[in-house]
Amino acid sequence: MEPNHRNASITTPLVILMLSVPCLTSCGSTKETPKTPAAVVAPVGTPVEIQTPLGLPPVPIPPGNKPTADTIALGKKLYYDTKLSADDTISCASCHGPAHGFTDGLPVSTGVGGKLGGRSAPTVLNAAYSPVQFWDGRAGSLEDQAGGPVANPVEMNMPHEVVVKKLNADAEYPKLFEKAFGPGPVTLEKVQMAIASFERTVIAGNSPFDRYQFGGDKKALSAAAIRGLGLFKDPAKGNCVKCHTIEEKYALFSDGKFHNLGVGMNAEGELSDLGRYTQTKVEADKGAFRTPTLRNIAQTGPYMHDGSAKTLRRVVDFYVGGGNSNPQLDKDIKKLELSGREREDLVAFLESLTGEVPKEVLP
Ligand code: HEC
Ligand code: HEC
Repeated sequence: MEPNHRNASITTPLVILMLSVPCLTSCGSTKETPKTPAAVVAPVGTPVEIQTPLGLPPVPIPPGNKPTADTIALGKKLYYDTKLSADDTISCASCHGPAHGFTDGLPVSTGVGGKLGGRSAPTVLNAAYSPVQFWDGRAGSLEDQAGGPVANPVEMNMPHEVVVKKLNADAEYPKLFEKAFGPGPVTLEKVQMAIASFERTVIAGNSPFDRYQFGGDKKALSAAAIRGLGLFKDPAKGNCVKCHTIEEKYALFSDGKFHNLGVGMNAEGELSDLGRYTQTKVEADKGAFRTPTLRNIAQTGPYMHDGSAKTLRRVVDFYVGGGNSNPQLDKDIKKLELSGREREDLVAFLESLTGEVPKEVLP
């Protein structure tokens, strides 16, 4: 098989990232000469509680990075700021913008200089709930994730030292960082912590589905969407809920696990992107990708890790056909018996998952 160009370009900057951020929360156990406690970076303000809409559980917060009004505001400014890219043209929002449900509306992302990446940009909405980040789970937290795209040559293409230097020399940023993290220079770790805190506020719930399912409003869904919900949950019909989970009091629509659907096979029937396998080297993980959330899914097309499905109808048809056969195909992916109307009902249900985004997260 051809060596995968995408993997090479994405993993290298991540190595740099991991080296530069050895630990964010629990640095206590090393036997080396004790460092001054001042080396531990933490927000200085009063932690704020992130309000969650109907249908979502509390947002998981790492103990070392409790969000404050100042870290969230700083993270928001960084998120929307093109200064984080080499040529001042790209911000996080270029690929994860509110106009497209916090993704970019493209099959695969375009970065600095119009370079194409190999995968579709997932939505940042509700990413706070994912146990691991990226389609292949290669980042353990939003903090770890946030440094990746800055240094990635096909995304923002800025070595971390350069970003940090640029921000330290900026007219505004140093005082905003001091307000958020106390005295000291801007560091990559602070950039990542601030962006992650902002991202934890980028959440969507209270959709018609939530009002129906968790709010007791039986009129919130159309008859078609209610039938679609039934098919979504029925093990003998859609069986979608097996991976896109709905709990008793909330729904994340993702089990946070990796599954092979056979998406992205080339003309020779080979998987062009090995997905989770690139991280684990476990045979069974070949072509497996993390189950994406389905919240606000009507806004985030095209779909799948490679953007290969243009519409929700195409996605449903793909499932009806039982995915693409390959040795690692998930055992829960098989041909479905769904009539034309049932397929439309499933789409109507998926369209009912569009919820409100807090207006504070908009630029
Ligand atoms: C050029 C487009 C581009 C830019 C700019 C970009 N991203 Fe991404 N982002 C992507 C792509 C593509 C992926 C998926 C890559 C993968 O899974 O291998 C991704 C993945 C993510 C994820 C993981 C979401 C999930 O569900 O796994 C988060 C969070 C994220 N980006 C946040 C950011 C932040 C914060 C910034 C700015 C510092 C940023 N991105 C800049 C394209 C971009
Ligand atoms: C075995 C687990 C599993 C089952 C069952 C399953 N899905 Fe998925 N779903 C996934 C995974 C994994 C992906 C991403 C696959 C990829 O890109 O390679 C996905 C992707 C999707 C997407 C595209 C999301 C995006 O952001 O691109 C939609 C929509 C979707 N599924 C809907 C459904 C529906 C409707 C059903 C039932 C008919 C269903 N899924 C059943 C695991 C599953």
